[in-house]
Amino acid sequence: MSGLYGISDLHVGFPDNRSFVEGLRPASEGDWLIVAGDVAERFSDIEWTLRTLAGRFATVIWVPGNHELWTTKDDPVRLRGEARYQQLVDMARGLGVLTPEDPYPVWDGDGGPVTIAPLFVLYDYTFRPDGASNKEEALKIAHDAGVVCTDEIYLHPDPYPTRDAWCDARIAYTERRLTELPAGSRTVLINHWPLIREPTRVLWYPEFAQWCGSERTADWHVRFGAVSVVYGHLHIPRTIWSDGVPHVEVSVGYPREWRRRGETPRGPRRILPAPEES
Ligand SMILES: [Fe+2]
Ligand SMILES: [Fe+2]
Repeated sequence: MSGLYGISDLHVGFPDNRSFVEGLRPASEGDWLIVAGDVAERFSDIEWTLRTLAGRFATVIWVPGNHELWTTKDDPVRLRGEARYQQLVDMARGLGVLTPEDPYPVWDGDGGPVTIAPLFVLYDYTFRPDGASNKEEALKIAHDAGVVCTDEIYLHPDPYPTRDAWCDARIAYTERRLTELPAGSRTVLINHWPLIREPTRVLWYPEFAQWCGSERTADWHVRFGAVSVVYGHLHIPRTIWSDGVPHVEVSVGYPREWRRRGETPRGPRRILPAPEES
């Protein structure tokens, strides 16, 4: 029986994570794989991973994480912001991998039909720490605590003035596309960052939450008929239920993180057909 599976935060710049990807195989023919962002930073590593997985799974669906969007000094691809994202989309399409810019596919296998919606929504600093009432105050609290996301250095928002302005544009685009789905559509919503704030409540550094999502997507799983939401980014793999909808973090994370849980990373999580208990 084929299934729809999800994984994220492969971070293949780490040799142990790259070996893990080399060993990744579908459980059965016809399996689809969601890759929910943070494949790597270097363009060539991202391309290698998507090519490898696209050669094995019937369908691969990718959304960008913050790491794909970084423009780092050791990456020959020098594009920034939206231009880098477009280049990633073009590369993925060339491999037959579906992106947030493509028509949403429909899963017709067991548990279907369900519209599979890869999203790229980014974040807008609205998951603010206690005591902050705007972005400036949130950032000041983070700087004072010494907890500042590396995105501030490498994730350029060009041509938008700020990352939150880019997020605004992404929310407008994404909301329009989801609103255009036929009434009553059931969906799987996929986004690198969680769509609700709850998963960030356990962060060791609560100041970090401002780089993890937007308050403006808090009701999307209800508004857009989600049977499941798939996300990554936090490196805290688990399932949280909200309004009866499972929000499944499918991240692998860094070797020092997955080694706490076992000798090898856990493989992709099954999303459809829905597991008995998740
Ligand atoms: Fe990550
Ligand atoms: Fe991330």
